[in-house]
Amino acid sequence: MKIIAPTNNKGGVGKTKVSVLLAEYLSKVLKKRVLAIDFDPQCNFSQRFLQMEIDPASPEGKIPPLHPDYNPDEENGDWDGRGSIADIFYNQSGTIPYPTYIENLDIMPAHAAKLLEAEGVRKSEVVEKVHKQIGKFLESSDVQSAYDVAVIDTAPSKGPLTVSVIKAATHIVIPSVMEEQPIQGIYGMLQLWMQESFRRQETRPLELIGILPNMFRQINLHKEMLESLRANEAIKKYVMPFELGQRAVFAELDAEGAIPKTVFDLPDSNLAKQEAIKVCKYITERIFAND
Ligand SMILES: Nc1ncnc2c1ncn2[C@@H]1O[C@H](COP(=O)(O)OP(=O)(O)O)[C@@H](O)[C@H]1O
Ligand SMILES: [Mg+2]
Repeated sequence: MKIIAPTNNKGGVGKTKVSVLLAEYLSKVLKKRVLAIDFDPQCNFSQRFLQMEIDPASPEGKIPPLHPDYNPDEENGDWDGRGSIADIFYNQSGTIPYPTYIENLDIMPAHAAKLLEAEGVRKSEVVEKVHKQIGKFLESSDVQSAYDVAVIDTAPSKGPLTVSVIKAATHIVIPSVMEEQPIQGIYGMLQLWMQESFRRQETRPLELIGILPNMFRQINLHKEMLESLRANEAIKKYVMPFELGQRAVFAELDAEGAIPKTVFDLPDSNLAKQEAIKVCKYITERIFAND
């Protein structure tokens, strides 16, 4: 099974956007069996596919809705009917993916409070309690037999949750806006990638698909920043040949009840759809290159 994650410790650069595009493209266009996983306590990726609810225990956070398979009459009290990816840190009993409006796309949503708790685990325990858990979940035979690829959205941090995803992933992509602060995030992620690559066995490499310029505008700032990355000897081989432009429709599709729900249902003449296809095709061809 392939495991792809967009990572950048800066927020607002398009990690969730790229996760959504990839999950939709892989399932709708390529007809792969996809498991989307939301590893960000902000729950944006989950919200895109499920009606998340306010956590009564901590109102600034979100929890998943009741699972459609949950039947309170049949349960013997050990499941409250909600499942999230954070359950891998507890008892694994809630780790049943939710279906989405796309037939072969399921999602393991986030749970704000539980993910934040895992992110806060003491350093001495972090490897056993956090780092290894997502890998174990993805290696389980249930998951391996049901899905071709997992798309994992990450939080804007280099904390234990993101590190654990980098350890489990087969591929990462680094979305970034072509501005000073987010570009600093690229260097941090490249360093994490190199450390992890060095640690990996040759049989299980971690492939960096590339740096994806996102929300790109034809303004001097963005053009100059991109040119300087493409001129940098150490970086240029990682810069993807395509960008995603700053397009209102990408933001509008994130609104609740947006119609169509996905950019791939827009007419072929739509520029945002054309860009999304180029970027997703480039990434997915690399994910499945050796198959
Ligand atoms: N190419 C784009 N054009 C327009 N809006 C975008 C684009 N990419 C992302 N956005 C919007 O910018 C915001 C931040 O993007 P998001 O994917 O949530 O970033 P991150 O997950 O890295 O924090 C969201 O509201 C999203 O809809
Ligand atoms: Mg996000």
